[in-house]
Amino acid sequence: MCSVVVGLQWGDEGKGKLVDLLAADHHAVVRYNGGANAGHSVVVGGTRYSLHLIPSGILYPGKAAVIGNGVVVDPWKLAEELDGLAAKGVDTSGLVISSRAHAVLQYHKLEDGLREDLLKRVGAERAPSGPDQAQGAVPVSEIGTTRRGIGPAYADKVQRACGVRMSDLSRPEQLREKLALALALKDPMLRVLAPNEPALNLNQMLEQALAIGARLSPMVRDTTQVLHAMLREGKRILFEGANGSLLDVDHGTYPYVTGSTCIASGVGPGTGVPSTRLGRVLGVMKAYSTRVGSGPMPTELKNALGDQIRVKGREFGTTTGRPRRVGWLDLVAVRYSAMINGATGIALTMLDVLAGLDEINVCTGYRVNGQVIKDFPPDAFDLARAEPVYETVRGFTEELGTCRARRELPDGARRYVEFIEREVGVPVDVVSVGPGREQTILG
Ligand code: GDP
Ligand code: IMO
Ligand code: MG
Repeated sequence: MCSVVVGLQWGDEGKGKLVDLLAADHHAVVRYNGGANAGHSVVVGGTRYSLHLIPSGILYPGKAAVIGNGVVVDPWKLAEELDGLAAKGVDTSGLVISSRAHAVLQYHKLEDGLREDLLKRVGAERAPSGPDQAQGAVPVSEIGTTRRGIGPAYADKVQRACGVRMSDLSRPEQLREKLALALALKDPMLRVLAPNEPALNLNQMLEQALAIGARLSPMVRDTTQVLHAMLREGKRILFEGANGSLLDVDHGTYPYVTGSTCIASGVGPGTGVPSTRLGRVLGVMKAYSTRVGSGPMPTELKNALGDQIRVKGREFGTTTGRPRRVGWLDLVAVRYSAMINGATGIALTMLDVLAGLDEINVCTGYRVNGQVIKDFPPDAFDLARAEPVYETVRGFTEELGTCRARRELPDGARRYVEFIEREVGVPVDVVSVGPGREQTILG
């Protein structure tokens, strides 16, 4: 059977560390969604690796690493990542890229940034005190994207015609057609939103895209067939979710989400391997909450305690370096994520970060219009109206970094794990007490 690792919150739960751990007993590691918006940090033997597009399994010599069709690939970022890993002595020869995966091109990144700037401007004009603000509406604001071109690349894929697949990067005539069409479609928008930017140049874009295509083409394959051939040989495949369930384009806090299906069921459309092949669904969650970018976060701590957790947990983005918003653990959100993923087990990370707190708050319900609800609301509009209902549990003072078994955890930490298991209704299979591979408690 195959396994999948997914994030149960708003990303950065520690998926990279868990994928690295599980990769040991799988033959291949496969990304199925997202793009270079992801930042997965893995610490092996004291060296920190930051992976964005390449599956975390690449750190095992000889392991197959697959970028599935559901990923949007920035080919230049990918080349940069390959070079960075090679410089650290990592063997990347096991990497294959789906010919069906869409490429993120320069104009996608440009468009991402311009749309964000526009949303910010419009949002400021329509601020709550502004003349135009509709009664009761959640204010318009930028999404706070990574500006990596993710949304525009997925939009082009779904709008069809001008979507560029990895296979197109080595078909000069086909690529010219698609780029010419893309320019025709985007030019009016670019002229309005970026009148001072030089116009996109078809020949130059074509040349650059073909050059990077030539470099990557030896790795580009029909990965659906590659993966099914592995399955026929009885090989075990590990799927690596990117972003987090609450950033899922359908099931997350829309519109403050990313452009892809982040939850476990994204494996089917994102790789061609049917979800029925998934045996283990490991949901990764941290012992508190973080979020990068805009959108409601009911348990956010905008105070010194939030700052303290941010510093202790090194909560600064792997991709953009932005400080992450920090808050108490939100179990309404996690319960929902575990449900929509069909999580068979939980990996609880960052428990060590909470050491030193006398008391810990955990959100177990929301108050909406005076009523307590337990179900996670369907979008940002409803979530913005939810106030957290907390249960306060006893904390722990001891540092956890050297604990290697549940029984070695101090009472408060052990009870916290049990509290989560009870509230979510899913067993905690793994507790992580530090970034290192060895700082892990199994079972
Ligand atoms: P991902 O995007 O889900 O892979 O998570 P990131 O790599 O963006 O962020 C998680 C960060 O926490 C990384 O810097 C990890 O090295 C680190 N990390 C993972 N697990 C633990 C843990 O249990 N404790 C601590 N202190 N850090 C951890
Ligand atoms: P990993 O895989 C945290 C957030 C962005 C923004 C929103 C949309 O490291 O967990 P996008 O650039 O995707 O259009 O941005 O989603 N976001 C993430 N936040 N971790 C991630 O990935 C994220 N990927 C996207 O901050 O709010
Ligand atoms: Mg991350």
